[in-house]
Amino acid sequence: MARILTITNQKGGVGKTTTTVNLACALKNRGYNVLVIDMDPQGNMSFCANANTVLNATIYEVLKGEVKIQYAIQRTSMIDIIGSNILLSGIELEYTKVGREFLLKDALASIKNYYDIILIDTPPGLGILTINAMTASQGVIIPMVADIFSLQGITQLYESVEQVKKYSNPNLVVEGVLLNKYNGHIHLNREVKGAAELVLKDLGIKLFNTTIRSSIAVAEAQSSQQDLFTYSRKNGATLDFERFSKEVMKGESHVKQPKY
Ligand SMILES: Nc1ncnc2c1ncn2[C@@H]1O[C@H](COP(=O)(O)OP(=O)(O)O)[C@@H](O)[C@H]1O
Ligand SMILES: [Mg+2]
Repeated sequence: MARILTITNQKGGVGKTTTTVNLACALKNRGYNVLVIDMDPQGNMSFCANANTVLNATIYEVLKGEVKIQYAIQRTSMIDIIGSNILLSGIELEYTKVGREFLLKDALASIKNYYDIILIDTPPGLGILTINAMTASQGVIIPMVADIFSLQGITQLYESVEQVKKYSNPNLVVEGVLLNKYNGHIHLNREVKGAAELVLKDLGIKLFNTTIRSSIAVAEAQSSQQDLFTYSRKNGATLDFERFSKEVMKGESHVKQPKY
């Protein structure tokens, strides 16, 4: 059965999509069978993976019950993905029924035996799409940039996780916070890291040992619709994501071991 992880942070531009793409590809390269779900109506993940969100069914039709989830999976040259487009933003208004936070969890039930890992990319904000993702997952990964506003946002995010645990997914675990665009040579970055360690310790949340450095290759790979491993195998950020993928999977004995 798949390990399902949500990549989330209510702030935009912190690296949710970047983390989803490159963690997914790192795990795929190591032999895991990986599916990515784009739960952001902006469709950035779908763009990165070169998914067709005009002609193909997306997660929107799946959540609405119009298409079976199997038929929404696209096998692109990068990864298996269920795409999204702007229609997904309608879910908030179209679905006001009780139980609407379980739409994604219910949809995933029929395919979770076919994958080792399912990663869910989320929109900024803590609305119904993010709640659906967290309700369907075992764990949450929080990418964060090392500035002080981001740190302030973590407490709010923690409270949302607690709400999800209370109402729709008691077993949800915060796997940890990932510092992205991190540069240990910059004093402020180091200072925020130190402060983050204290705040997170207080909340009982782990800060991942791995940090992801800033690299222009990250944006270049995205604009050429490639993952970092294909675009620039030896780049520092590529190596960071490889290390991160190992840290995420450490101790996951219940997930099938990779083929190599
Ligand atoms: N480690 C990094 N180095 C350089 N640029 C990065 C890095 N991580 C993300 N970016 C860039 O920052 C922007 C926001 O990242 P993105 O993953 O789209 O954030 P989010 O999904 O949280 O909105 C993108 O233009 C992306 O290319
Ligand atoms: Mg994004």
